[in-house]
Amino acid sequence: MKLTVFGAGYVGLVTGACLADLGHTVLIVDTNRERVEQLREGRIPIHEPGLAEIVRRNAKGGRLSFDTSPASQPDAAAYFIAVGTPPKADGDANLEAVWAVARTIFETAQEDAVVVVKSTVPVGTCDGLQYFFDGLSAEHRSTEVFTINGAPASRRPALEVVSNPEFLKEGDAIADFFKPDRVVVGTGDEDAAEVMRAIYAPLQLSGERPLIVTDRRSSELVKYASNAMLAIRISFMNEVARLCHAANADVHDVRLGVGSDSRIGKKFLYAGPGYGGSCFPKDVQALAATARRVGQPMQTVEAAHRANQAQRGFVLDLIAQHLGGLEGKTIALWGLAFKPETDDIRESPALALTDGLAFAGARIVGHDPEAADNFARHYAGSAHVALAQRQEDALEGADALVLLTEWRCYRNPDWDAAARLLKPSALVLDARNVWRARDVTFRGLAYQGIGTKKGR
Ligand SMILES: NC(=O)c1ccc[n+]([C@@H]2O[C@H](COP(=O)([O-])OP(=O)(O)OC[C@H]3O[C@@H](n4cnc5c(N)ncnc54)[C@H](O)[C@@H]3O)[C@@H](O)[C@H]2O)c1
Repeated sequence: MKLTVFGAGYVGLVTGACLADLGHTVLIVDTNRERVEQLREGRIPIHEPGLAEIVRRNAKGGRLSFDTSPASQPDAAAYFIAVGTPPKADGDANLEAVWAVARTIFETAQEDAVVVVKSTVPVGTCDGLQYFFDGLSAEHRSTEVFTINGAPASRRPALEVVSNPEFLKEGDAIADFFKPDRVVVGTGDEDAAEVMRAIYAPLQLSGERPLIVTDRRSSELVKYASNAMLAIRISFMNEVARLCHAANADVHDVRLGVGSDSRIGKKFLYAGPGYGGSCFPKDVQALAATARRVGQPMQTVEAAHRANQAQRGFVLDLIAQHLGGLEGKTIALWGLAFKPETDDIRESPALALTDGLAFAGARIVGHDPEAADNFARHYAGSAHVALAQRQEDALEGADALVLLTEWRCYRNPDWDAAARLLKPSALVLDARNVWRARDVTFRGLAYQGIGTKKGR
């Protein structure tokens, strides 16, 4: 099938490339000219394991192309919208890019097609888009002024909007595409549902991966409810960890005991520096904003956000308390991406911590195997922030080492070398609880986890 994907970011590029790998002919459209040029030259603008190979294979095979305009493929069977929906000041989602793409699709499409909304959008957005397409079509029919390539358009192509939220996890996005837990399709139109089944058919061969067909609004809410549920779990465990810290209990053991309950399960129960990334913080706030708007405030969701903010403050306080203040101190940060295996720093805990440390007069030396360039761009010109080429270089003369992202390269550090490079009795703050305290304290350094028992 001919498919056009708008947005060559984390979602659009992965979706487009993987759809091409399933045998579809895919045009990926992005208004960022530089990004399109890069992709045409075979350079991948984001770090996502396995993606480069799939892009190159399908571009070479003629199934995947890139452009700043969709004009070269006006007969696509489906238009995927995978552009950003960043937060507005009040927490609600900014849908400007989604509406800009909708207008482009209306002006481009010459065949009946489905418009597949992959971007995370508040409940009711897809119905709004359908209203927009139906309204414009009726307007053009009644005034009869619309032309396609200069010829009068007797009939506008029918555009049917389908919600198809994306659940990929950055760093594991390719596996998530080919082996999804579920594909959710929101539409009341059986023909549109059939198009979606055909698009995803190669994933459904075994019949084990359910395609859940529902209405557009329920589909939109599946996405928000899923992310909010995960964010609530993380915030809950972070609060349990803070309680462990205050009460001298150990969050590792609490997690094991709690997670052994089959009704609860073991996943997403890890304490840390607070959730980040381009999705959880913004989706939690957008869901809360939607709920307030319709007069059904969601207390648990609002609390998850507040607890996450508090967790960031907790990490900063741990450092300040241990060092007796932050002014003039040097802090080494390992892990700047919001999670391992991505270069994405959007809403990363590293940003909140760096801002707090810099505000208090500390100097920050960061390291990350993939996200260092994005971090450097974000703090370009800052007198407080420097980047280290090698992870050991960040430690030179530092008062504290803080682990924020559990990349594999940080899992088993050379603690003897670290002790030589850090200041004597420096703080090692393991904000991911992945190190053994005794490996650190044995070298005369001070270990601190998040809610872990001292001396463990
Ligand atoms: N990143 C994730 O892990 C993830 C997971 C699930 C869902 N989502 C959702 O998917 C959507 C996209 O997220 P992302 O992380 O891929 O964003 P992104 O910022 O990485 O990519 C968005 C791309 O859209 C392009 N764009 C903007 N306006 C455009 C237009 N009018 N026409 C064509 N291209 C345009 C931008 O140049 C950019 O390359 C968001 O709604 C997000 O919430 C993201």
